[in-house]
Amino acid sequence: MTKAPDCLAVVLAAGEGTRMKSARPKVLHAVAGRSMLAHVLAGVMEAGADRLAVVVGPDRADVSAEVLRLAPQARVFEQRDRLGTAHAALRAREALADGCGELLVVFADTPLIRPQTYAALRKALQEGATVAVLGFEARDPTGYGRLLREGGELVAIREQKDASEAERAVTLCNAGVMAIAGAQALALLELVGNDNAQKEFYLTDVVALARAAGQKAVVVLAPEDEVMGVNDRVQLAAAETAMQTRLREAAMRAGVTMIAPQTTFMSFDTQLARDVVIEPHVFFGPGVRVDEGAVIHASSHLEQAHVGAGASVGPFARLRPGAQIGAKAKIGNFVEIKASDIGEGAAVSHLTYLGDATVGARANIGAGTITCNYDGFDKFRTHIGAGAFIGSNSALVAPVTIGDGAYVGSGSVVTQSVAPDSLAIARGRQVEKPGWAFEFRESHAGKPKVRP
Ligand code: UD1
Ligand code: MG
Repeated sequence: MTKAPDCLAVVLAAGEGTRMKSARPKVLHAVAGRSMLAHVLAGVMEAGADRLAVVVGPDRADVSAEVLRLAPQARVFEQRDRLGTAHAALRAREALADGCGELLVVFADTPLIRPQTYAALRKALQEGATVAVLGFEARDPTGYGRLLREGGELVAIREQKDASEAERAVTLCNAGVMAIAGAQALALLELVGNDNAQKEFYLTDVVALARAAGQKAVVVLAPEDEVMGVNDRVQLAAAETAMQTRLREAAMRAGVTMIAPQTTFMSFDTQLARDVVIEPHVFFGPGVRVDEGAVIHASSHLEQAHVGAGASVGPFARLRPGAQIGAKAKIGNFVEIKASDIGEGAAVSHLTYLGDATVGARANIGAGTITCNYDGFDKFRTHIGAGAFIGSNSALVAPVTIGDGAYVGSGSVVTQSVAPDSLAIARGRQVEKPGWAFEFRESHAGKPKVRP
């Protein structure tokens, strides 16, 4: 098998318009827990792009920072004036001039394009095309560039504003993304002029220019839902919906049961193993892994957390960053866990906050237990040993250690460590006054009650 040629991806992330009505640049808005830019960068990298160039708008340090966070090897270029998509691609001239086997030009505001689709464009080049354009059948083609074919071959792309009446009737449209053979890419881009209705340098002109030079251009088809671009918050929500559908279907096909999939919200990296059951209204922020057979009960919220095999979480549980739930452990309703390891088979069943804690295997944490882990300045850890039993409504003031097998009496405020197998009681001792209540009522007999 011959090795695929090296591939440079130029990501256009400049010239975003104003329709998001946001202080944040469009491409940094999130879909399924990561920025649209991140989706596109990850997509082209997964499709084998070994070099990345990102073209950003003027003074967009925030976009550059996101690029370098996601892909430190990427080169960032600036486009000051918005003179068109070919002009934008040429801002990465220094990267193009280094030469490449294949060039992918992609947009940072189309977060739904799959890696396989970018790979299909590359494959079309490997099969002999000089230009491969991603096309789709548009329900409504208005505004898109039309793909003009003759005898099955792509001959040109006509932008809406330059199209004749007959051309506007064409429904096969340009998704925007394109692959160009590396040997011809820079020369073709440099030939693009701006003699058109918008006085812009159109990337799409590359098709006709390649044809004029006797080279071949082809269309690679994708479903319309996949090429959806985002220009405003309504389209952002539509992209989110489409991405959620994709993520849920992939999870279900991999063996996850979702009782009401349309109410399960996932992140791009949510990992759900076989036979996991997700009840309605569960939200997965980024960084969650759930192992085989675990059940996430209704209305739970998880982020940067790991749930072990056969564990049970919720209903109404919150797992915050660093929550590690051991196999077969139980996290019940109205329980919040942060940066804590919960041992195998441990039970934290009701109304509890555990932060910066370790809980040993099979420990039982009674209802209403709170770790007091913060003094307003620093965070402190709580260690609860294996098989320990914390009575209900106890406050564990960290740093503190409860030994293996120890008991803490209900309602205790524990400020000192408890030795293994001991009982600690840290609350007022109960006193009883026989007959007090009877005498109290007698002394008030006949008195009218004051209404609150
Ligand atoms: C473009 C295509 C059109 C296609 C459509 C798909 C061209 C000439 N037209 O049109 O055929 O049907 O996308 O959505 O390519 N950008 C820059 N700098 C610029 C101009 C654009 O960075 O100077 C970036 C934008 O941020 C965006 C992308 O390029 O990510 C596309 O630009 P846009 O103005 O949306 O092009 P369309 O008119 O939609
Ligand atoms: Mg557009």
